[in-house]
Amino acid sequence: MSASKPEVGSMLKVGLHKDRVDSYLAGRRMFPVTLELDLTSRCTRSCPECPSVNSANHHSLSLSYLERLLASFEGQTPGLLLTGGEPTMAPLFPAALDQARRYGFREIAVVTNGSLIDKPRVADALLRYATTIRLSMYDWEDGSRGWFDGSLKRIESLRRRIDSEGSDLQIGTSALTSADRVERLDVLVGKLRSAGVHWIYFHPLCSKWGLGTPELADQAGVTAKIEEIQARGNGGDNVFFFRERYRETGLRFSGYHAAQFLVVVGADGKNYLAPEVKYQPDFVIANFPEENGPEWLWDARRQSLINSIRSQSYPAVQSRHRSILYNHFIEGLLRRESSALEDFEIAARTPFLFPFIL
Ligand SMILES: C[S@@+](CC[C@H](N)C(=O)[O-])C[C@H]1O[C@@H](n2cnc3c(N)ncnc32)[C@H](O)[C@@H]1O
Repeated sequence: MSASKPEVGSMLKVGLHKDRVDSYLAGRRMFPVTLELDLTSRCTRSCPECPSVNSANHHSLSLSYLERLLASFEGQTPGLLLTGGEPTMAPLFPAALDQARRYGFREIAVVTNGSLIDKPRVADALLRYATTIRLSMYDWEDGSRGWFDGSLKRIESLRRRIDSEGSDLQIGTSALTSADRVERLDVLVGKLRSAGVHWIYFHPLCSKWGLGTPELADQAGVTAKIEEIQARGNGGDNVFFFRERYRETGLRFSGYHAAQFLVVVGADGKNYLAPEVKYQPDFVIANFPEENGPEWLWDARRQSLINSIRSQSYPAVQSRHRSILYNHFIEGLLRRESSALEDFEIAARTPFLFPFIL
């Protein structure tokens, strides 16, 4: 594995946080690196496999709940990832970003479908408080459907504001891959670059996500095509993918270690084990308590639920979602496997964009 090329996501990203990993391996309490939070489960789109949009009841967080939650991580958890639902739809979106900065979150990433990024209340908050957006590209197979062209225009206008106002905000985009989309990746990358994105990320399309058992669609030929685009230079270095998600190696873990590093809270205010099982009632590991403070993170019941998860029986293991891959890596460290220990050293030397966004 290369130690020099920057990455956005990799199995080793969790290893960058050596002090926290060492604390975990030694059985000491530590705060998570990243909080992944849904402000609302509502969205301006309704995608067929989306677990939040298709849930029977919709939820949105209140400002007072949000403040108590963020306060429980104050100054200790550096990364905040807002997703959903569509986070920019939430009326409290600007206040949420402001609060997150006040409670010491150093990197704020917003996963968005981009439909509202041209609205002044959204754009102003992004330019002022966010580190990056990751704008999901939908319907790019068929530009004539309007959504895609609209997204490109909104990216262009946000990029103009970034440049004219000297904002540090980065515009990232993500696109879902599958074997039948391989031939269209080149055109997509060209259009995104022309619109002014700073980085482009590819991740695999899943089926059955809404059921809590996501499975990868056929990805034949995808990584070869992305590597070809990267090798072509001319900006190929801002094209990323999470390599281990596309491999077919076995994964093993005894205990869902990643839940200590990446805490996932849904718009219903519940703490779920991991992103791939968000809104699945069987995977609620904590209800945020009435009392203030971070003690809920180390609640004995929460810890025992996390420790009870095994790779052999975990229904979402096939999704190879990032937390599952972190589990595998940390499991290797717990077992003192030499390849994992070597990877731990490589992690420290790998430049990661947005290191606090796991
Ligand atoms: C559920 S959306 C929520 C945030 C925001 N509304 C958006 O569209 O980006 C979060 C991520 O899920 C991804 N996603 C949507 N459908 C998917 C699928 N069938 N398989 C895998 N990921 C999917 C999107 O690309 C997006 O990056």
